[in-house]
Amino acid sequence: MYLKQLSLINFKNYHEFEAKFCQKINCFVGNNGVGKTNLLDAIHYLSFCKSYFNSLDSQNIRHDDAFFVIQGIYERFAEDTEVYCGLKRNQKKIFKKNKKEYERLSEHIGQFPLVLISPNDSELINGASDIRRKFLDGIISQYDKVYLDKLISYNQVLKQRNALLKHFAESRSFDSETLDILDEQLAIYGKSILEIRVNFLKQFIPLFNSYYSYISESKELVTLEYDNSLGEKDFKTALITALSRDRALSYTTVGPHKDDLEFTLNGFSLKKFASQGQQKSYLLALKLAQFEFIKEQKNTKPLLLLDDVYDKLDEERFTKLLEMVSGEKFGQVFITDTHPDRMNELLNLKKIEHKIFLVGREEVSLITASE
Ligand SMILES: Nc1ncnc2c1ncn2[C@@H]1O[C@H](COP(=O)(O)OP(=O)(O)OP(=O)(O)O)[C@@H](O)[C@H]1O
Ligand SMILES: [Mg+2]
Repeated sequence: MYLKQLSLINFKNYHEFEAKFCQKINCFVGNNGVGKTNLLDAIHYLSFCKSYFNSLDSQNIRHDDAFFVIQGIYERFAEDTEVYCGLKRNQKKIFKKNKKEYERLSEHIGQFPLVLISPNDSELINGASDIRRKFLDGIISQYDKVYLDKLISYNQVLKQRNALLKHFAESRSFDSETLDILDEQLAIYGKSILEIRVNFLKQFIPLFNSYYSYISESKELVTLEYDNSLGEKDFKTALITALSRDRALSYTTVGPHKDDLEFTLNGFSLKKFASQGQQKSYLLALKLAQFEFIKEQKNTKPLLLLDDVYDKLDEERFTKLLEMVSGEKFGQVFITDTHPDRMNELLNLKKIEHKIFLVGREEVSLITASE
C-alpha cells in the first residue's frame, strides 16, 4: 500500500496543493514555517480522520477560508483507492472512500496504517504518565477489541468508585457493601488489563531493544519496564490497603490507571540523565517497534512519516536510520528536513528510490527524483 497522490484545498497554510509520490522515500525540504509538517499532517488525516497536532478540526482550515479538502489516492492490492476528507466550518467532517461516505469514522481508521514520528513525541519521555499509558493502550487497542472493551468498562467502574469515595467524604458516611461490589468489578477488569499489557510488552520489548541497538550500534543499554502500581499485591488487597488514602483523596490511587512505563539508559532514568540525542534514539526505537507491531498485525507495511528526525541525531545515527527505512522491511516513507542538500546526497549515494520536494512560501516544486 502506498500514497500515490495528495491534493489539498485550504488545508492549514495551503491554498492549493497537489503532488505525486514515489513508493519509497519522499522528502519535503525547506525553511522553517513553510508547511513541511503540515503536509505530513494532511497524510495523517487521511489515515486517522484527524490531525496529529491540532485536535480542533476547524483550526486546520486555512485562516479566513470556509472549508478544507484533503484527497489521497492510494494504491493497494494493485488497485487505486481514493480517500476524501472534507470539512466546512461549523459542519460535520465528511469522510469518503471511493466516493462512498462512511457512516462512522471508526470504519475507516486502521485501513491505511501509518506511524508518524515527530518532535512532539518527546512528551512520551517528559510528560505525565497518562501519555505513556495512552501510547501503550493505543497500540494494543488497535488490534485487540476485547482489550478496548475492558478498558472502557474499567474506566466506567473507576468513575463510579471515585464518585462514591467523594460521596463518602461529602456526606461523612461509609458503605462498605457498595464499595465492595465496585472493588470486585474493578479487580476483574483490572486483572485482565494488566495481563494483556504484560503479554503485549513481552513481545514489544525485544523489538524495541533490537531497534535501539541497531540505531545506537549497541553503544548503550536501554530498558523499558512496566511500572505496576499494585506492587506484588493482588488487586483486591491493594485496594483494601490503599482505602484510607483513597478516602482521604476521594480518588482511587492504585490500579492500571496509575501504572506507568519506566524508561532507563545505562541504568539511569532516561528523562533525567540521557542526552537529547539518546532520548531521540529511544523514541525512534519505541515508534519503530510500534511500526513493526502494526505491520505484523495488519499484514501490511504502514506509511512511515518522519518529521524533523535529523534534528538531534548525529550523522552516523541518521544514516543508519535512513538505510534501515529504505530497506525491504519498510514501505513508503515521508521525511521532512530543513537542509535541501544532505538528504539528496545521501539518497543518491545509497541509490535509494526517492523524490525530493522543495517547499517554499508560494509553491511546492519537485526538485529531484531518482530514475
Ligand atoms: N489554519 C491555518 N491557516 C493558515 N496557516 C496555518 C494554519 N495552521 C498553520 N498554519 C501555518 O503553517 C505554518 C507552519 O507550517 P509547518 O509547521 O508545516 O512548518 P514546517 O515547514 O514544518 O516548519 P519547521 O521547519 O519549523 O518545522 C505556519 O506559518 C502557520 O502559520
Ligand atoms: Mg515542521
